[in-house]
Amino acid sequence: MSDGSGSRAAAVRAVAAVIGRGQLLDVALADSGAEPADRAFVQALAFGSLRFGHRLKEVAALLATRKWDALSPEVQALLLVGLYQLEYADTAAHAAVSATVAAARRVGEVPAAGFINACLRRFQREREALLAMVDQSVGGRTSHPAWMVDAIERDWHDQAERILQANNIHPPLTLRVNARRTTPEALAEELALAGHVTHTVPFAPSALDLEKPTDVRALVAFTEGRCSVQDAAAQLAVPLLAARAGMRVLDACAAPGGKTCHLLEAVPDLAEVVALDIDAGRVDRIRDNLDRLGLAATLRVGDALDPAATGGGLFDRILIDAPCSGTGVIRRHPDIKWLRRPRDLTALVERQQRMLQALWPQLAPGGRLVYATCSVLRAENVTVIRKFLAATPEAVDVTESASLAVAGLPPLPAPRGPGLALVPGVAGTDGFYYACLERAG
Ligand SMILES: C[S@@+](CC[C@H](N)C(=O)[O-])C[C@H]1O[C@@H](n2cnc3c(N)ncnc32)[C@H](O)[C@@H]1O
Repeated sequence: MSDGSGSRAAAVRAVAAVIGRGQLLDVALADSGAEPADRAFVQALAFGSLRFGHRLKEVAALLATRKWDALSPEVQALLLVGLYQLEYADTAAHAAVSATVAAARRVGEVPAAGFINACLRRFQREREALLAMVDQSVGGRTSHPAWMVDAIERDWHDQAERILQANNIHPPLTLRVNARRTTPEALAEELALAGHVTHTVPFAPSALDLEKPTDVRALVAFTEGRCSVQDAAAQLAVPLLAARAGMRVLDACAAPGGKTCHLLEAVPDLAEVVALDIDAGRVDRIRDNLDRLGLAATLRVGDALDPAATGGGLFDRILIDAPCSGTGVIRRHPDIKWLRRPRDLTALVERQQRMLQALWPQLAPGGRLVYATCSVLRAENVTVIRKFLAATPEAVDVTESASLAVAGLPPLPAPRGPGLALVPGVAGTDGFYYACLERAG
């Protein structure tokens, strides 16, 4: 019989690859060596260990005689995976300890096995006192790196801790109904027959939350193109764009095509949708999604900063779903807490500003540009838009009137500046920012 060390070792390899080598968690999990039967468990262990890892790292620092930075990524990961099981998982404590200690041998850390065993056992004995110490700081109790706590506190003041706590909540699996092929009611019925309970989302009429997450690839409705996976906040881009039949639309950062496909599903008879992305591999994913959903767009690989990349001509609508820090989607990607660095922000903001400047001249007079990020940081949102508006007299901020057209939006925290900010913990969605700008004339 398996001693459970194989699954722990796979989770440890994945966590070590993220925290030690800066790999994306999805990639690290694919390379973790997890047995097919263990994949869901390994994924849960790795996600949980990273999600709560900054809290557990502080606990480990109190337990260990050696400094955290002096430990190898594998030993750090063994501590995180072991402590995660003891504090958050359903695993029996003795099994968690023995399987994690045995995993030390599997990941080539034989000499550390005794040390891991001692740390985990001491945590069991002194749990309350250790957590009380760690939980004195916001970073400890919400499990975030200090720079991220500082940035979110600076931007969101007394709402910061709610946002930080919401980043640790398991996200719902939200589907977007393909309006070309079915209706939310019919899809909900179809899923109910397959044993899935769904809930509607008041402000996103195409969205259905699945009560229990599942592997969507196993849903016939997904493989047959009646639905896609998309958070409800991301489903606001299309109503805010307010495109109509006959219009030419540019999705300037389109891959993997979530918003392009939503637009094509929701608005019939558009003259053309150009879906541009700089990454050729990701453009292939747009193509796959269009094919699965029975939709068509003009696909282009190119740099949105290059005016020639869009193929020329003016657009009635432009969507810039800009590359950003991803600080609004941490609940889905806890590796962001480990991979993102404060210095990344400068380059991101510069690119966001340059994208706006490069694409604005391609907007037809009277047209609308929607700028979106999945960031909760003002530097990438309000500040970028404010600066752009100040430098561009013919740009008019119409976010307020555009958002009035979205029925059922809950009261949102004021972003203290132009735009609309959904932050984690308010409407059950990811964090998203939108600004709608129209070109006068
Ligand atoms: C937030 S994702 C877009 C998500 C997409 N809109 C969706 O809903 O599925 C940002 C995208 O911008 C692309 N990107 C980054 N820099 C770019 C550039 N200079 N020009 C065009 N695309 C770029 C990335 O490859 C990435 O696919």
